[in-house]
Amino acid sequence: MNSRLGAAIAAVIGILGLICAFDGSTLWSLSPPAALADSCPYGKSKGAEGGLYGSNRFHKPFGDDYFGEAGEELIQEMKALNIENYLRYLTSQGHMAGTKQDLEQAEYLQKLWLEQGLDQVKLQPYEVQLSHPNLEKPNKVYLIDEEGEVKFTSTIIEEPIDEVEYDDSIPPAFLAFSPAGTIITDELVYVNYGRYEDFQQVESMGIKIKDRVVIAKFGKIFRGDKVQNAQRFNASGVILYTDPQDYHPESDTGGAAYPNSFWLPGSGIQRGSIIWHDGDPTTPYYPSVDGAYRVPEEETDTPRIPAHTLSYNDARKLLVNMGGSEAPESWRGRLNITYRMGPKLARTGWKLKLEVNNIKRVVPTYNVIGMIRGSEEPDRYVMLGNHRDSWTFGSCDPSSATAVQIELVRSFGQLLEKGWRPRRSLVFASWGAGEYGFFGPWEWVEEYLKVFEMRTVAYLNVDLAIVYTYNLQISATPLLHKIIREATKKTPAPDKSLGYNTLWDHWTDRFRASSPALMDYNMASTSEHSPFYQRIGVPASYMVWEINFDELDWSDYPLYHTTFEDFNAMKNILDPEFRYHLSLGQLWGLMAIGLADAEILPMDLEDEITMLRRMLEGLQEEYGQALKERGLSLTHVERTIDGFADVARDFSSRIRKICDLPSLLARQLNDQIIALEKCYIDAEGSTYRPHMKNKMFGTDNFNQYSSWLAPAVRDALWQATHCQGPCHFQWQMVEKEIAALQYIINSALLTIKDIQNL
Ligand SMILES: *[C@@H]1O[C@H](CO)[C@@H](O)[C@H](O)[C@H]1NC(C)=O
Ligand SMILES: *[C@@H]1O[C@H](CO)[C@@H](O)[C@H](O)[C@H]1NC(C)=O
Repeated sequence: MNSRLGAAIAAVIGILGLICAFDGSTLWSLSPPAALADSCPYGKSKGAEGGLYGSNRFHKPFGDDYFGEAGEELIQEMKALNIENYLRYLTSQGHMAGTKQDLEQAEYLQKLWLEQGLDQVKLQPYEVQLSHPNLEKPNKVYLIDEEGEVKFTSTIIEEPIDEVEYDDSIPPAFLAFSPAGTIITDELVYVNYGRYEDFQQVESMGIKIKDRVVIAKFGKIFRGDKVQNAQRFNASGVILYTDPQDYHPESDTGGAAYPNSFWLPGSGIQRGSIIWHDGDPTTPYYPSVDGAYRVPEEETDTPRIPAHTLSYNDARKLLVNMGGSEAPESWRGRLNITYRMGPKLARTGWKLKLEVNNIKRVVPTYNVIGMIRGSEEPDRYVMLGNHRDSWTFGSCDPSSATAVQIELVRSFGQLLEKGWRPRRSLVFASWGAGEYGFFGPWEWVEEYLKVFEMRTVAYLNVDLAIVYTYNLQISATPLLHKIIREATKKTPAPDKSLGYNTLWDHWTDRFRASSPALMDYNMASTSEHSPFYQRIGVPASYMVWEINFDELDWSDYPLYHTTFEDFNAMKNILDPEFRYHLSLGQLWGLMAIGLADAEILPMDLEDEITMLRRMLEGLQEEYGQALKERGLSLTHVERTIDGFADVARDFSSRIRKICDLPSLLARQLNDQIIALEKCYIDAEGSTYRPHMKNKMFGTDNFNQYSSWLAPAVRDALWQATHCQGPCHFQWQMVEKEIAALQYIINSALLTIKDIQNL
């Protein structure tokens, strides 16, 4: 040992010696003798003096107070009226990614955030491949009679109904990443919601899918998975439409549609992306920067068959012209027609023509990245992100959240003026091309991967603030569950006339009816958090105001991605006083303060243990029998989870017993905590989906909107249990992925183990 190193170690020991050094023999130990346990718990001594440190007047969070004075002031500072005004601006035009409005809003935000007091705001373009409709040749579906006369042509845009004009910022009907192509056929097959099992059922009715156009209802699963399923069954094209059953169930009983209710009018057309891989498809795994290698078009993992979207007024015209047997009762929608399976059109000689003219091009999309530098740990980041691009006016998706994010930045700017500065840095991200498949955040995470996987404490995502205002829906990786619970307890209830005092009261009271679990781990490919947990294992959360799932079973809200998602819909129907926007903004801000200001990160390892046990139970329940029949088991995984629980509890109790906390030790403990969920990243990726790197949280292979815990094991088990023949390879892959699951949990165990013992 050279002497300089020796001196450095002595200095470290000196610092650590400040901690509960009850006697000389425990100099290195963080654990006091049992008798003294909890006698000097971290937080109490300093908490009594208010935890004041630094030169500013703000009392920092300490002990059981996670938000300090900054939390109180932030709640006071935020105003619903400001959110309303920001939303009015943001929804004044369409702002689809890759358009001039996309750039305009990015520049507006950059300027505004600097004025509002952020220390730095970067406008960061990435050249990504996007798919746009051809304005000269809009996409259409036709019905042509035996004489060649066109009997029906689908509309390309909604009928304006609330005095809102549609200019060229509003794209005509299209599904992004549908390839261009024209199909003329006398066949059309009804496939219900286009789920994998729906296609299986159609084939079991004796109707082949191969080389035929299929028509499916939107809803239940992500639209891209419907197209992927059609492709799996070798269909030639896809038509998707919004059946009133899901988008206006009161239509046949005379119920009003928008603008007199939130139900979808007959001309509404849902736009959206059908790509099933997140990020720019031409640059998988790498950022879309100058010099990037672009995969040749024919090798990108994108839809190969044309797909288009119709309103229910238009879909009706096709459905009434279908032949074949009646659809099973449970498959029928809510149009007043006889739903038929096809495959032939009802009238001989009639033809269906599906024409898609979408254009793919590489264009810039813009991320706006703003920062408040931390006072003590500026190299640790708490990120708050939202995508900015919309399909049309985007009053729900995403601009309700963008408006909240702007008000949050303004309010943090006011706190900075008053002398507050967080311990860690806050990073605000406004992503471009989120709607296409989270391109902005994926390219950014790919570029900054080595920096941000190390430095990011948490990524707090809000995609859209408001779907409806019944109750909060929150998904998060376990490390964020605690701060969410604590922050909702501090956030005022959005509407006290409902009898709730805090957001916690509102959330927990209304939640109880529909589900036993307050928060889930549904970290699917639903939003911009996906690269953060899927690629770099950063603790991530997603939250939105939702409907009452006991009353309604929505997959999408009715006006979703149509032109009716405009400012009036928000102002007149969804959240007229913007109280629910405000409440979500306060929650978002408190979570950020709690994570940025606390000395020891407010993350509870008990939540991790709970998740691991649920993950195991889920696998046992679904596949326990199949594994047993094969002579396999999850015993090793279970033992590793037991070991993890012991080590996690030991870690937590060590923290509880700390009397004084030198910053080096705080840093060391925090680094152990934030390394934990990163252990779920396995560079190998899932056997069947190598791009899925997180082996704990991932997407359902058949529905990008839904999640799987232990997705790689589930992929392998699905393949093995759906395989015919000896299936030797498939079962080997099951064994391999179970071992990998054990490995990632054990890695998590090792990271939080007392550092003095390997
Ligand atoms: C689709 O076509 C491929 C290639 O011809 C074939 O291997 C596959 O079995 C077909 N799938 C179905 C579900 O028919
Ligand atoms: C449904 O259609 C039938 C036959 O076309 C018609 O008699 C009936 O009034 C319609 N019902 C509604 C609720 O529109």
